Amino acid sequence: MIKKVGVVGLGQMGSGIAQVAAQGGYNILATDAAEEFISKGIRNITKQLDKAIEKGKLDAAGKEKVLGNIKTTTEMSDFSDCDIVIEAVIENMAAKKEIFGELDKICKAETIFATNTSSLPVGDLAAVTKRRDRFVGLHFFNPVPVMKLVEVVRTLDTSEETYNTAFAFAQSVGKTPVKAKDTPGFIVNVLLVPYLLDAIHQYEIGLASREDIDSAMMLGCGHPMGPLALTDFIGLDTILYIADIFFEEFKDHHYAAPPLLRRMVNAGYLGKKSGRGFYEYNK
Ligand code: 3HC
Repeated sequence: MIKKVGVVGLGQMGSGIAQVAAQGGYNILATDAAEEFISKGIRNITKQLDKAIEKGKLDAAGKEKVLGNIKTTTEMSDFSDCDIVIEAVIENMAAKKEIFGELDKICKAETIFATNTSSLPVGDLAAVTKRRDRFVGLHFFNPVPVMKLVEVVRTLDTSEETYNTAFAFAQSVGKTPVKAKDTPGFIVNVLLVPYLLDAIHQYEIGLASREDIDSAMMLGCGHPMGPLALTDFIGLDTILYIADIFFEEFKDHHYAAPPLLRRMVNAGYLGKKSGRGFYEYNK
């Protein structure tokens, strides 16, 4: 029975996860590496709730209730009595392993651990804990409050009970879960990322303008964003990082990052978050 949800990492994904879980009525305990990141995460949630009020989808009392469900801390030891802890820190194996190793010593035996990783093997993270059977992937999508999907990832060791609890948790926060295996990219990214890489490659070799590539996929296929705008939205560094992991895992040129992508990332063109990617943005 899940009542208290820990969220480690209050960036774009973590704050979205904390928000939807708080809206689902759970008590949230959230943390990040420093007080300033915690404040930023809470400001982001407050902004989203204010937008919902403007649109008449939420009232002031509803906003206070959601925010009241979210407590923050800078002490990992406060996570000891969480029923599930969802990790959403940077996509770095060493950083994630350190967090799970620490949580494993702190949390009660029944606590389920979940990672929001998009590309790292969930089983490798579980291996640093003594609770491999109580470890799953819960991969949410960006923007979390809008995207309906959660990939629930089962490792070789995830128990049936843990898996079912995590699956039901995703449903209880208003998402539609799908069952995914612990293979690189799960279901969505192994299909989406090669498509984005192809679009970048085609742009690089002059297929069409950035606007025409994006309009073609939006108007021809009904996608909400074209592939170059979507790469900007996700972050060019994230796409490059995932591509490199896929290439390393599959040893298949199909997953190789186009040179233009790597050049842009090295030049600091990370997409929307840096103000420039395939398009220019006001920061
Ligand atoms: N947070 C919360 N809500 C947001 C939001 C955000 N960052 N951005 C937009 N929204 C909400 C808006 O408030 C609006 O809500 P409403 O319908 O209640 O009024 C709704 O989303 C539509 O937003 P807009 O009207 O402002 O703009 P669009 O219609 O252009 O939609 C979009 C914006 C939802 C981002 C849409 O373009 C879209 O769905 N794009 C594709 C996103 C996508 O593919 N995400 C998956 C990325 S892959 C991933 O996350 C995996 C990772 O591992 C790489």
